[in-house]
Amino acid sequence: MHQPYGGVVPELASRDHIRRVLPLAQQVLQEAGRGLPDVDVIAYTRGPGLAGALLVGAGVACALGAALGKPVLGVHHLEGHLLSPFLSADPPEFPFVALLVSGGHTQLMQVDGVGRYALLGETIDDAAGEAFDKSAKLLGLGYPGGPALSRLAEQGDAAAFKLPRPLLHSGDLDFSFAGLKTAVMTQAKKLGDQLEPRKADLAASTEAAIVEVLVKKSLAALDATGLRRIVVAGGVGANRRLRQQLDAACAKRGVRVHYPELSLCTDNGAMIAMAGAMRLQAGMQEARTDYAFDVRPRWPLDALAA
Ligand code: KG4
Ligand code: ZN
Repeated sequence: MHQPYGGVVPELASRDHIRRVLPLAQQVLQEAGRGLPDVDVIAYTRGPGLAGALLVGAGVACALGAALGKPVLGVHHLEGHLLSPFLSADPPEFPFVALLVSGGHTQLMQVDGVGRYALLGETIDDAAGEAFDKSAKLLGLGYPGGPALSRLAEQGDAAAFKLPRPLLHSGDLDFSFAGLKTAVMTQAKKLGDQLEPRKADLAASTEAAIVEVLVKKSLAALDATGLRRIVVAGGVGANRRLRQQLDAACAKRGVRVHYPELSLCTDNGAMIAMAGAMRLQAGMQEARTDYAFDVRPRWPLDALAA
């Protein structure tokens, strides 16, 4: 739906949410062999994100809650990603370092418990997923391009092109990916007619540059905190090269790496339900019964800290 526009069109997204949310909820309940009366609390994404799309979720959650007489709970989207590995068969233990890599965010956090998050570093410009998507667009791979670029990269030589590793030696835990996209564009222009046969090589070199920075900074975050456990969350966490390189580097250091199941890496409702349940169990948040729903399009995760 968004592909012809090369990015998400907010108005199309929120209209599509309206059409899909109730049939999808019904389908999920049916597959789980449950009904609406089995639901204790309704969690929804309160932010951050596109206001129109958030309002659909908040409105539906509050309407359902009011109709069923059940409380509702607004959840932070990134906290959903952060806690999504707890849905896996082998959940992590607190404390851990979290590498949050999505289309909108690239952050390293120290996580001491539910709601106890300290920001260690983040991107000063583009997010890692954005770097994948923008580079993929330059290579004509469509949108969202991360998975497509990664697939093409498997047939290429990651050492074929020398691309920048921004802020690799900055001495802090911040990231910058905007320059990489420019370097990919310059390289693609330089290749001209030769781009087509070298596309896989350029894709592989781009992926390698992004992954190397993510892995090195993650290791630096482990060193800085002295922690021995890292959780990778967000859509880019599905990237195979990232998983391979991080696993290899952490195995050498005796550090445990946790990933959400592949299907739970990209945006999903289960992680929001899980985060809501964990917040309630930890006594971090009360579910509301006034159904005065609100959304927060901009909402820093550390504002959640207890
Ligand atoms: O977390 P997510 O589903 O949505 C946001 O909250 O942004 O992340 C989407 C991002 C997109 O930029 C997409 O290109 C990227 O994750 N992505 C990948 C892969 N799968 C998804 N990037 C690289 N390799 C992948 N396999
Ligand atoms: Zn996300």
